[in-house]
Amino acid sequence: TLRLPARAAQYCRIENEAQLHALPPHRQRFILGGGSNLVLLGDIDGLVLHVALTGKRLVAEDAGAWFVEAAAGENWHDFVLWTLAQGWPGLENLALIPGTVGAAPVQNIGAYGLEAGERIHQVSAIDLNSGDTRTFSKAECQFSYRNSLWKNEGWHLSGRFCITSVVFRLPKPWQPNCAYAELARELAAKDRATPSSQHIAEAVIALRQRKLPDPAILPNAGSFFENPRVDADVAERLATAFPFLPRYPQADGQIKLAAGWLIEQAGWKGRQLGPVGMYEKQALVLVNRGGACAQDLLDLMAAVREDVAQRFGVRLEPE
Ligand code: EPU
Repeated sequence: TLRLPARAAQYCRIENEAQLHALPPHRQRFILGGGSNLVLLGDIDGLVLHVALTGKRLVAEDAGAWFVEAAAGENWHDFVLWTLAQGWPGLENLALIPGTVGAAPVQNIGAYGLEAGERIHQVSAIDLNSGDTRTFSKAECQFSYRNSLWKNEGWHLSGRFCITSVVFRLPKPWQPNCAYAELARELAAKDRATPSSQHIAEAVIALRQRKLPDPAILPNAGSFFENPRVDADVAERLATAFPFLPRYPQADGQIKLAAGWLIEQAGWKGRQLGPVGMYEKQALVLVNRGGACAQDLLDLMAAVREDVAQRFGVRLEPE
């Protein structure tokens, strides 16, 4: 979705698991989901496996939860809307995130106060070296902010394990999760004092549509950098110098800062460098205004990082 030019030496669309068991040996395999959260810095000298496995169903239900499974190639947003329509709420805060179900656990997608890992029960994958199917529990996935065992191991890049399906545990009774300030404001503005899961999905969709560019119109990959986490004393010192600095205390005692705010304060909101720039309505989103190549993106990434580091002493990492 960033529309950087890149070509795969070989490409295979995976529509059934049997294809994964019949792969010829390859030096390099690259596992691709929706292509909406990756940066291609050049051609891929290997086999791209484009996961297009489909199917979704309720696999179990008990007094405490619905257990819903979706194949890795299902579109994430369509899956979220489908669960809501079936009367199985719990994923509404993650509406309209681009990409596929199988990619969701890799970087533990998150938005508006919820991370996918909080709802994931287990992930099934095929070990492409041995052909064995393996199931990873939520704990084994080691979810943290925009991270997991999957991303840490780089299995999507090395082609070791290919995620085939994900089971979500959607707790009963459903409880609205509207603590995220911007979401709470949106619901209040619509007079939703006791919002349904549908109301929350609608509010999240409205917020995202207002702030995030549609990749079909303006190429981008969502947030380009992660929100940095710093020690409490560092955040304290920064807040003395910059009283409006947004700070979000984390369970581990660290403080999460808002990369979008840091980038805006460093003067990069809506600013371009060649054909790429940081988006005018959300400084955390890097956009390709047309014809960019990988080097343009690397130059902008370096410039933004440098200015934020100079001004705040904080190092930004790409998401
Ligand atoms: N802010 C600015 N200027 C900006 C952008 C943000 O000052 O240009 C400030 C906001 O005013 C607010 C704070 O930064 O005080 C946080 O902004 P926002 O609520 O827009 O969220 P974010 O931290 O910029 C994160 C996720 C998004 C997710 C939103 C909503 C990351 C890297 N990004 O953005 O995820 O949608 O929260 O939960 O954690 C993505 O990962 O691709 C993505 C879009």
